[in-house]
Amino acid sequence: MKCCIVTLGCQMNQSDSERIRSVIEGMGFEMTEIEEDASLIGVVACSVRQKAIDKVYSKIQKWNQWKNEKPLITFVSGCILPADEVKFIKLFDLVFRMNELLELPDMLHQSGVASEFSTRHPLNDIEREDERTDFWQVEPTYSSDFEAFVPIQNGCDKFCSYCAVPFTRGREVSRASADILAEVERLIENDVKAITLLGQNVNSYGLDKKGEELSFAALLRAVGEIGSKSGKELWVYFTSPHPRDMTRDVIEAIADYKCLAKQIHLPVQSGDEKLLRRMNRNYSIEDYLKIVDDIRELLPTATIFTDIIVGFSGETDEQLERSAELMEQVKFNMAYVAKYSPRAGARASRWEDDITPQQKSERLAKLSEVLKRTSLAHNEAMVGKTFRVLVERADKRMEGALASRTEGKLPVRVLDASNDLVGTFQDVEITSASALSLAGKLAGA
Ligand code: 5AD
Ligand code: SF4
Repeated sequence: MKCCIVTLGCQMNQSDSERIRSVIEGMGFEMTEIEEDASLIGVVACSVRQKAIDKVYSKIQKWNQWKNEKPLITFVSGCILPADEVKFIKLFDLVFRMNELLELPDMLHQSGVASEFSTRHPLNDIEREDERTDFWQVEPTYSSDFEAFVPIQNGCDKFCSYCAVPFTRGREVSRASADILAEVERLIENDVKAITLLGQNVNSYGLDKKGEELSFAALLRAVGEIGSKSGKELWVYFTSPHPRDMTRDVIEAIADYKCLAKQIHLPVQSGDEKLLRRMNRNYSIEDYLKIVDDIRELLPTATIFTDIIVGFSGETDEQLERSAELMEQVKFNMAYVAKYSPRAGARASRWEDDITPQQKSERLAKLSEVLKRTSLAHNEAMVGKTFRVLVERADKRMEGALASRTEGKLPVRVLDASNDLVGTFQDVEITSASALSLAGKLAGA
């Protein structure tokens, strides 16, 4: 029996998917990437933007047609808004949340003999508040031998007015630090080279268990100690922090440990104060720039990435201009610019989505142009110098080349290098730069 899992969205979903896979393999299923070959097929959904959830609807329509020809059980998990959940219950055999993962084998047995469609009811509010985290005990089936995601927290309490997450993943819950550190230790023993600590709001780690748990800075230091003691080469990342809780002690911890990678993903969302207030972000541009100054001072080699939304309800041309100005000022190495997409339940969904799709596209193009300009200047200054990279895979577009990343997560194409190097650190001399990537050759080659 074969199972296919389609994972959409962020690294958190990928990490959840690695645990779902373990449970399903434990039931005797073999994994396949070919949807047509599976008798159990599911999707780990993302609700951050409507486009991603539309994909889930188109998948299930197709899969339900296949049911006329062969026995097939379908499931959906991941980030699902209540309004979609009600519809999914009618379309999928199984709808489950991550905190129900341990019951998945029972649910599957039942659905194998029960009706065509799910027998479950939409979750009530008490179940939604369920803070069970025993799914983290499931040992994940990591998708890579040398890069791993380690969840440290689930859910979000920030309620940014555009965001679906508090409604799909519920309240913020921290995973026990002893479990996180044990997982990190195991990964390092297994020679994993890059670890990413994951959460919706990583730097409020521990705040839900004040007095009982480590702070985020202390957790980073504990990870740093394990990394240093191992004597192995390692880059540890985290994503994403919230500027509001990004205290100087977090940046100091990163500075103190070689294995804590000098790369910060700090979503700003907008360069306009008024819009930030309407987004319920609870920081000012001055606060944000102070964090950037601290990063530049304590981590001079760090790259800085961000997320920005364009076309948020009521965004004026002047407000967009302020996002562009902020980008000019900070000179982000990478910015994930997204067009605003109203999410049912989030506060902003009650406000008019008054920026037309055409305007959103133009605004996105404008910010992309700023990003390309500032990152090109940064990348050009790297030419002729040698950087350590982690080789990720064979280059998809160029024969005989490898795809790699610097510690700052900048993509580097390594020319004329052998596939044997995948999963290793290498020194690469940068020979050319473009806006969002670099190319180079093995140092000494
Ligand atoms: N519309 C567009 N982008 C969004 N994001 C979150 N919610 C929305 C939305 N409703 C973006 C934010 C966040 C990233 C994960 O996705 O920039 O940081
Ligand atoms: Fe969403 Fe804001 Fe929480 Fe990030 S911090 S997950 S944008 S509510």
